[in-house]
Amino acid sequence: VNASQDEGSTRKIPQSLFGVSFEEINHAGVGGLWGELVSNRGFESGGRHSPSIIDPWSTIGNYSLVKVSTDLSSCFNRNPVALRMEVVCDTSSCPAGGVGVYNPGYWGMNIEKGKTYKLVVYIRSLNPINVTVSLTDSTGVQTLATVNIIANDVSNWKKMEVVLEAKVTNHNSRLQLTTNRKGVIWFDQVSLMPMDTYKGHGYRNDLFKMVADLKPGFIRFPGGSYVEGNYLRNAYWWKDTVGPWEERSGHFNDIWSYWNDDGLGYFEFLQLAEDLGASPIWVLNSGFSHQEAIDTSNITPFVQDALDGIEFARGDSNSTWGSIRADMGHIEPFNLKHVAIGNQDCQMPHYRANYLKFYDAIKKAYPDIKVISNCDGSSTQLDHPADLYDYHVYVNARTMFSMAHKFDLTSRIGPKAFVSEYAVVNDGGSGNLLAALAEAGFLIGIEKNSDIVDMASNAPLFLNANNKGFVPDAIVFDSYRAYGTPSYWMQRFFSVSNGATLLHSDLQSNSSDSLMASTILYQNPVDKNNYIRVKVLNYGSNQVNMKIAIKGLDTSLIDYSKSSKAVLSSTNVMDENSFQNPTKVSVVQSLIKKRRNDMNVMFTWF
Ligand code: AHR
Repeated sequence: VNASQDEGSTRKIPQSLFGVSFEEINHAGVGGLWGELVSNRGFESGGRHSPSIIDPWSTIGNYSLVKVSTDLSSCFNRNPVALRMEVVCDTSSCPAGGVGVYNPGYWGMNIEKGKTYKLVVYIRSLNPINVTVSLTDSTGVQTLATVNIIANDVSNWKKMEVVLEAKVTNHNSRLQLTTNRKGVIWFDQVSLMPMDTYKGHGYRNDLFKMVADLKPGFIRFPGGSYVEGNYLRNAYWWKDTVGPWEERSGHFNDIWSYWNDDGLGYFEFLQLAEDLGASPIWVLNSGFSHQEAIDTSNITPFVQDALDGIEFARGDSNSTWGSIRADMGHIEPFNLKHVAIGNQDCQMPHYRANYLKFYDAIKKAYPDIKVISNCDGSSTQLDHPADLYDYHVYVNARTMFSMAHKFDLTSRIGPKAFVSEYAVVNDGGSGNLLAALAEAGFLIGIEKNSDIVDMASNAPLFLNANNKGFVPDAIVFDSYRAYGTPSYWMQRFFSVSNGATLLHSDLQSNSSDSLMASTILYQNPVDKNNYIRVKVLNYGSNQVNMKIAIKGLDTSLIDYSKSSKAVLSSTNVMDENSFQNPTKVSVVQSLIKKRRNDMNVMFTWF
């Protein structure tokens, strides 16, 4: 590899070239990044039938002692279902621990010794109540934390808050609400949040950190197909997800088949972007589900919904929707600069006509907002105005590697590409080294074409190991563990590319079909030193010895104590990481030894 700064092709890489694409898929947010431990906290998931299914809540005590059903007596209009618990036994006839209900969370709650958890519950009863709130193991036998809620008058709905401190760790715990007092108690909006979420903003710390370590320049949300839904009634409608969490209706994610209490709502996505230092990219519903297409003559309410959503993010605190954001605690506007009009909807009937309605209205109200079209402009010019076009690619490894050249011949005139979803599938297993290497080739191509590709993100970002809806993914987790797939570690190689300077580099080799390289110059924000990062990819099966020569670099200025080599490799390209072996394929870092005191840095890669 020969790298230098003095050739014509040296240029600045966009500040947000590499980012992340968050979709509510695989329980990425619900039972994932979002810290809420109670599943179906408002008892809404079974719908408004009577009796309703309250899954995953279950009863403690048999039917002769406690009768549990639902009714529409909630104090919240948008989520009217509440749990009605009729206790038939009393102190003399109830079992020792009382009777009641329990919630196992999302495949078990992670409760850790010494940590505190805030429980909020809405309660109503015509009698005085004495309810024991406890965190137990998955069978209810071992108690990890307990506290009593005692109240004489809850004849009107009352919000109760208690803090539980865990005395024992258990990664597969459950929450119990029990009593041995005869009478009827109604419960609603039962929430249990760990108190040490990221900045208290509700994000699970370990998962937040894994995303933050990618240093994403942007975060695209909330999907993916999740934005559209199978049916429009189940699509993601941002207005249902803002305001006090207790008042959110929740909705069924009918694309990936699970209930969403919408704790991680539109506000929380915008806050997440801010906390990550990433630019938010909101994908809005442009009038399409997977089964329906809204005719352009009926699209106005959808356009208004989009404008309202932008006002929620950007309007001042006197504006209609900006005031709701301010009431939620964020007085200053969020930095929303991009909206995508739909997801993979270009081929839907009326897409272009609908798109233009959104485009014109958004540009009129917010001329600086960059509008992203769903139509592919990589081979032909778009027939409609757009700032960017969305490009998705899911292919096998060999094809992905060859796509390193996908944008080489793309016209430099016209909107830039937003590669918002790329991933190796089929031979990528559950995330193997082969996939990561092929994707690395694709990303080196993106880096080199970053004059025309403005942003790129792998998808999906998260997988809860208990809900494998779409595989492979970048980050795999369960209630308490997380690991990065090889693709995740590969993406970290590109984490300092945003805003760096792309240097000219060329690769001289007779096996150049399977080798790729790129070189950047960047400043480390922590030590303020300038670094050159040479990324070399060997996609072939043979070992290659490489010499890296950096033209114009005074080697006497190299600080070898800070110069390092990072290698992503494994004995077999089909190797994957796992909870048991989370870093089987990961980056191994070592110092570069000073071999020669001249203009060349020489070392063997593999
Ligand atoms: O990333 C997973 C899915 O793949 C997305 O929901 C969709 O946009 C694409 O088809």
